[in-house]
Amino acid sequence: MTIRAVVKGVGHYLPERVVQNAEFEKTIDTSDEWIRSRSGIERRHFAAEGQTTSDLAARAAGAALANAGLTVDDIDAIVVATSTADLTFPSAATMVQARLGMTRGFAYDVQAVCAGFVYALANANALIVSGQVRRALVIGAETFSRLMDWTDRGTCVLFGDGAGALVLEAHDGSGTPADRGILSVDLNSDGRHRDILYVDGGVSTGTTGHLRMQGKEVFRHAVEKLAETAHTALEKIGLSGEDVDWIVPHQANIRIIEATAKRMQVPMDRVVVTVQDHGNTSAASIPLALSVGVTRGQIKPGDLVVTEAIGGGLAWGSVVLRW
Ligand SMILES: CC(C)(COP(=O)(O)OP(=O)(O)OC[C@H]1O[C@@H](n2cnc3c(N)ncnc32)[C@H](O)[C@@H]1OP(=O)(O)O)[C@@H](O)C(=O)NCCC(=O)NCCS
Repeated sequence: MTIRAVVKGVGHYLPERVVQNAEFEKTIDTSDEWIRSRSGIERRHFAAEGQTTSDLAARAAGAALANAGLTVDDIDAIVVATSTADLTFPSAATMVQARLGMTRGFAYDVQAVCAGFVYALANANALIVSGQVRRALVIGAETFSRLMDWTDRGTCVLFGDGAGALVLEAHDGSGTPADRGILSVDLNSDGRHRDILYVDGGVSTGTTGHLRMQGKEVFRHAVEKLAETAHTALEKIGLSGEDVDWIVPHQANIRIIEATAKRMQVPMDRVVVTVQDHGNTSAASIPLALSVGVTRGQIKPGDLVVTEAIGGGLAWGSVVLRW
């Protein structure tokens, strides 16, 4: 018998304020046309002043619990993927725990930047299959608007804020890819690429810092590495692109999403795309897209879903699951 971490519920939260591309035309040398054609982004949400990552995360978690028909008393652990925790410490996850009124179990953050949700899913899966917890909340939440240099047109138009969450529950499986739940994981990192995507602040500088990116270089790595990690995760369980019902990719750039789907030989009508509405929400982008994909009626129980992401580090990876 195999224990599987099965998705019991999904939910998301987006801050109220929507910023259209045209708003940037007032402050920097850019255009709606450039942003749309180079990235696929049309709008993004920005958190209100004083609204923090743990606030967005707790709201997404509440939606996922409601969707699962569960309460916090049913949850054993909270794993939050974020690079924009409210404070250097404690973790955003323990703040979410307090916001939800959860007084048992344990909570912690995972930091793998835009690959964070894939890492957090892999981590929560390990907790469940090893029998340490029965149910886990896995959340991706970010306020990347707080890291933007508003004079850098190459980055500030690309990112947004938001949160998405899944409830995972231990179920008995047969050990075959026909099982529901997480079926395969592939994680990678290569610290030699630190300088192409990083924040120039933190504890060592005593500042929050701003996001710095060599867009073209990140783009090149993304196209190469995303299809590869998805392929590896599928291959581990004897599957290929043909078996995939939905790719739910990290939503950074429509051109990266399209190139990855093409390399995986999966048509775009089997890819959940939300980048036009959310921009790049880093670790929140995959759970947001999963939640929107379910709401739209795209992802259904039994579907084979492949998530893949890459971000600062570089860190990248893929999780294959049956919904
Ligand atoms: C950032 C990105 C959209 C830029 O697209 P690109 O096709 O590579 O464009 P380039 O970097 O070649 O820039 C082309 C020109 O547009 C300019 N440009 C950059 N941002 C601009 C903006 N917002 N508006 C108008 N022009 C802009 C550049 O200055 C450059 O001008 P130059 O040729 O005079 O120097 C693209 O590289 C990308 O998406 N990279 C990956 C980013 C990513 O996914 N990061 C997160 C990973 S988690």
